[in-house]
Amino acid sequence: MFIKKLTPTLGAEISEIDLSLPVTNQEKYHLKSLFAEYAVLVFPNQPLTPGQFVRAAEIFGPLMEQQIKKFTLSDYPLVGYNSTKDLPLINGKLQVRGENFHTDHSNDLEPPMATSLVAVEIPSYGGDTQFVDVRKAFDDLSAEMKEKIIKLKSRHVHESSRSPRSFAKLTPEEMAKIPQTIQPLVIEHPETHRPALYLNTGRMEGIVDMQDEAAYALINQLYVHSTQEKYEYRHKWRVGDLVIWDNRAVMHQANADYNPEEFRYLYRIMLKGAPLKGVNI
Ligand SMILES: [Fe+2]
Repeated sequence: MFIKKLTPTLGAEISEIDLSLPVTNQEKYHLKSLFAEYAVLVFPNQPLTPGQFVRAAEIFGPLMEQQIKKFTLSDYPLVGYNSTKDLPLINGKLQVRGENFHTDHSNDLEPPMATSLVAVEIPSYGGDTQFVDVRKAFDDLSAEMKEKIIKLKSRHVHESSRSPRSFAKLTPEEMAKIPQTIQPLVIEHPETHRPALYLNTGRMEGIVDMQDEAAYALINQLYVHSTQEKYEYRHKWRVGDLVIWDNRAVMHQANADYNPEEFRYLYRIMLKGAPLKGVNI
């Protein structure tokens, strides 16, 4: 295995490994520790079949079901896909899921600990995925701000009344299964114990025991702070890239800046998470 850091704190590219083959226990342990440290791992040249992708993702933990069943492969229900063919076009612009920084399914009681994509077809330009390090963003806050926000919690719903983006419309049966959850504003990573901001402006419905105006101003302030370029790794996709990210350590954002005539298709797997814990005061 050859490891190349992608930024000083976030992201590592791992080459000289073939994820279509089983890995040893030692390699698995090494990969999991790299994942805990760098939060985004990029494996180039891994043109995996859906079955191989399932086995590769399982290196990092057990898998969870895809929330939106209509975007899953019939033979591999744990493998979802992002395809340009399913995206609505409004005024010539593709309506892409995930086009603002967020962490996946934050309204779940047990949000997915990780999300992974394999690029099957990629347009000639655009469609990058951006990641920001919300551990470093927390570390850089003032002591006063840290003390204030580690006590706070937010309600996460399917779609916030102030959401900057609209979400996939679900069937009534799917909606009935969608939970609402109170999550800490600052979470502690279960393995590294590093604190991280936990933000999702599309799903956060205010802050518990705080007036709306002050709550949304605080959420916005933290969002603006944590999405600064200095916290970012921007991934430019190549066919065969496998990328996995830790939803408890980064936020991510999709980009719809590619030619809607070109085909973009990625497989997607979510990994099971556990209830999130706040930072002990
Ligand atoms: Fe996402």
